[in-house]
Amino acid sequence: MGSFDKEIQRRRTFAIISHPDAGKTTLTEKFLLYGGAINLAGSVKGKATARHAVSDWMEIEKERGISVTSSVLQFEYEGYCINILDTPGHQDFSEDTYRTLMAADSAVMVIDASKGVEAQTRKLFKVCAMRGIPIFTFINKLDRDANDTFDLLDEVEKELGIATCPINWPIGSGKGFKGVYDRKSESVVTYSDTLKGTKEGKTNVIPAKDRANVEAEIGKDASDKLYDELELLDGAGSEFDLEAVRAGKLTPVFFGSALTNFGVEIFLENFLKMATTPIARKSLGDMIEPTSDEFSAFVFKIQANMNKAHRDRIAFMRICSGKFDADAEVKHVQGGKTMRLSQPQQIMADERKILSEAYAGDIIGVFDPGIFSIGDTVCAPKMNVCYEGIPTFAPEHFARVRQVDTMKRKQFVKGISQIAQEGAIQIFKELNSGLEEIIVGVVGVLQFDVLRYRLENEYNVEIRLDPLPYEHIRWIEHSNTEISKLTGTSDMKKVTDLKDRPLLLFVNAWSIQMTIDRNEGLVLSEFARN
Ligand code: G4P
Repeated sequence: MGSFDKEIQRRRTFAIISHPDAGKTTLTEKFLLYGGAINLAGSVKGKATARHAVSDWMEIEKERGISVTSSVLQFEYEGYCINILDTPGHQDFSEDTYRTLMAADSAVMVIDASKGVEAQTRKLFKVCAMRGIPIFTFINKLDRDANDTFDLLDEVEKELGIATCPINWPIGSGKGFKGVYDRKSESVVTYSDTLKGTKEGKTNVIPAKDRANVEAEIGKDASDKLYDELELLDGAGSEFDLEAVRAGKLTPVFFGSALTNFGVEIFLENFLKMATTPIARKSLGDMIEPTSDEFSAFVFKIQANMNKAHRDRIAFMRICSGKFDADAEVKHVQGGKTMRLSQPQQIMADERKILSEAYAGDIIGVFDPGIFSIGDTVCAPKMNVCYEGIPTFAPEHFARVRQVDTMKRKQFVKGISQIAQEGAIQIFKELNSGLEEIIVGVVGVLQFDVLRYRLENEYNVEIRLDPLPYEHIRWIEHSNTEISKLTGTSDMKKVTDLKDRPLLLFVNAWSIQMTIDRNEGLVLSEFARN
């Protein structure tokens, strides 16, 4: 293998998905600790520092002390080059969070052992499942009282519809947490909470066949329970099957405690072996291999107004093939222009560094003078590729929006259309009407504030937002009847999006099913392929 191929093969690009507070940040910090990127966990991306460190790209971020942007972390570990895509978690959950998943080759799902599968995990999981990427599960916080292990696995299987394969098995939890049983080596790895914040710590590894020794180490009760569970274990979850893992049909499950740094290294090592190298991506019906000689990438996110200067934007690209060379010219496929990407940079949590080269699997951010759209392809001039677009994801919050000053109609329509074009919000209009009545849909409610702020600051338009009760949106993939004649529930609303595609808004999930039942041949979708 040449050095070029090696560079690509050693890359692992993944997103961490979880519900807020499950421990995503803590786990990320511990990964960085192993990678030697930081000396002390917490010093890079701890919550306390995040407020100042992440970015001051948008005033709104500063005001709220949160990060609207998601960032990418790159670090080295045992010969691997790892890219972690951060998916914003709290109020800043937005369509960007979903889009970021489109750039990942695999996902790590962090679950709080005392909470099980939660709402945001479910949503993000769905997008990963749609893409069929491998999903690895880290069940966290075993140092606190946890739900029954069998129940947790059962919940993942039933709620998310993916088979599970425990790679290790927790021994007790909370005050009684003794460690994990590693199935492959058939040994007990004991827990010690002296590991807190450091990477060196003392754990004992005792072969399970040496039951007396295990009992001496973890106590009789824990030991008896473990051996009982081990007998049942073969019936819990599925057999390990790497093919199924890579196809996203089986999730390997690990247990640990990110806070006390237990189970993290075991996870990382197994994960890196099981996760895929950068995957081939579809373009014009062909699969483009990452090791193809020529550079190609697609834009998955655009961050507006990073500088206060108007229209300063950064386009985030995932490199799909070849090597990026900052001096080489590239073709912007949708724009039909050849150019040099300016100020290519790697975006870190707290810094941006200018880079001169990057490889398939990596993420780069480039200065965008307002020419890129989400989903656009950029490639070497002689290459003929156009990557599949990024789907539009279903917003969950809706509001009717009006400008306060009716004289400012023009700026209002211009501003809101541009912001929608960038992908920060989605706009809809009533079926068979113009833009007189605009309905805005967002994935996360904070986007409403971003919209208001940007319209006021960039377009000098004040708006009024009236919340609407809809929570579900469905694109119409197929209908036997004309859209205007579809019979739905009384609270259903028919609208169209910017591309004039018809959609239905629903107040509850029950109405969706009712509408499908009432209209033969009606096929609805939660995503819109662009
Ligand atoms: P998130 O990014 O998924 O939102 O979660 P984050 O890592 O910020 O963790 C949320 C809270 O859970 C933090 O506590 C964190 O210390 C704690 N936590 C994470 N992993 C573990 C674990 O394995 N065991 C235990 N017991 N706690 C864990 P906090 O009090 O909200 O914040 P902080 O003041 O400790 O930073």
